[in-house]
Amino acid sequence: MEYLDETEKQLSIIEELSRRLKAEEEKTGVKKTFHVVTFGCQMNARDSEKLAGILRRIGYVETDTEDADFVIYNTCTVRENADLRVYGRLGQMKRVKEKHPGMLIALCGCMMQEPAAVEKIRKSYRNVDIIFGTHNIFKLAQLIQERLDTGEIVVDIWPDRDMIVENLPSERKYPFKCGVNIMFGCNNFCSYCIVPYVRGRERSRRPEDILSEIRADVADGVVEVMLLGQNVNSYGKNLETPVSFAQLLRQVSEIDGLQRIRFMTSHPKDLSDELIAVMADADNICRHIHLPVQSGSNRILKAMNRHYTREDYLRLVDKLRTAMPDIAITTDIIVGYPEETEQDFQDTLDLVKEVGYDGAFTFIYSKRTGTPAAKIPYNISKEEIKDRFDRLLAQVQCDSKKALEKRLGTVQSVLVESPNDHDPSMVTGRLESNAIVHFPGSADLIGRIVQVKMTENRSFYYIGERVSV
Ligand code: SAH
Ligand code: SF4
Ligand code: F3S
Repeated sequence: MEYLDETEKQLSIIEELSRRLKAEEEKTGVKKTFHVVTFGCQMNARDSEKLAGILRRIGYVETDTEDADFVIYNTCTVRENADLRVYGRLGQMKRVKEKHPGMLIALCGCMMQEPAAVEKIRKSYRNVDIIFGTHNIFKLAQLIQERLDTGEIVVDIWPDRDMIVENLPSERKYPFKCGVNIMFGCNNFCSYCIVPYVRGRERSRRPEDILSEIRADVADGVVEVMLLGQNVNSYGKNLETPVSFAQLLRQVSEIDGLQRIRFMTSHPKDLSDELIAVMADADNICRHIHLPVQSGSNRILKAMNRHYTREDYLRLVDKLRTAMPDIAITTDIIVGYPEETEQDFQDTLDLVKEVGYDGAFTFIYSKRTGTPAAKIPYNISKEEIKDRFDRLLAQVQCDSKKALEKRLGTVQSVLVESPNDHDPSMVTGRLESNAIVHFPGSADLIGRIVQVKMTENRSFYYIGERVSV
């Protein structure tokens, strides 16, 4: 499914734009800048790295403000709030662009796959120069070229795509860790979710492409990778030679020098015993799984089209903990799905208590036009939803504090990720469980895995101290 000629075509456009940019810079004596704003999930964050890679290759230099020569918004549309934030930003940019001659604004990502959003932008936000979607980000250079050549707004949205273009420039936000796409799209059609409509059908990358990308990353200093897909557990089913996610994960874990592997997201319906065995067996696969439950009510799970029951889910949790007693489990939960009763909500709350999550993202249901759930009459009051949400949040926070308590006093491997935001004598890192620890240390530890004793539980993170072993 890989078309080398498409890669070559894009690389030659990048070359040409780069010459154009250089000529312009020689005249003006100033470097052209770019800035990428990312909304949404890890998938979008990874796409933004690819966009930045292309822009840098063209010759733009990155700047940390939106007052740049090329600004790109990589949008999300999973909940209504995500859309509203993009409109807000575009509104603010009207004035910024008026004061910045030659500025180009591009919009891409999931929200652009919705015709209604694109129409609204074309009508009300005339400051936008380029609009494209999730399926053709590899074409960024070509779209810029079109905009410069025609002077007109360029809109290029593909309904879906069957090809995966490999080997274009890309960069990493952190030198020591990165996300790696193993698949694109989603076939699950959970009743509330817009992602399958805006990201298209499931397509897996070939294992050899994934493995060689990770080997190159490791040779370049990466110690931790996060394998990315909307449902990694169904990886590989549509490949010419089918490969299971567990098989891929084992191969990744055998890469020399790769110290940590994470993956997300796992759909409970497809989590295999083979996967649990691979996780338990490999030292470099983090003892953490993000396993979105969405609801604890069988009635609601069925309506959501999730294909598992609360009993199935609890059995999975049991299996995971039997195989790996120290595994951290995190989840996503939706409150206020149409027709959720107080009893359904209680079922969710009970399940949450029973599992005792290390962490949970809790969301208020947001109606997405075009999804089956959007057609169900909505009968829950705002106050009721807020009340349920607050009760759930209180439980989740209490449980994650308890989960931190379990590892208090123990020594853990920590990947040091950044200097501490508030105290320059401290650094911040992550445990295998994904929990955060702040501890005294200098910036030269960043990117290294060190042993840290967890000395204090501050509810949302630890304070620790480095120990030598
Ligand atoms: N593919 C992942 C989730 C991707 S979206 C999975 O299936 O687990 C991340 C989370 O956003 C979902 O797990 C869900 O909890 C939440 N979400 C998705 N659509 C939503 C909606 N319409 N309203 C509220 N939350 C939603
Ligand atoms: Fe959305 Fe469900 Fe696909 Fe996750 S698995 S992206 S929640 S449709
Ligand atoms: Fe949002 Fe698209 Fe991710 S809708 S959550 S950015 S796949």
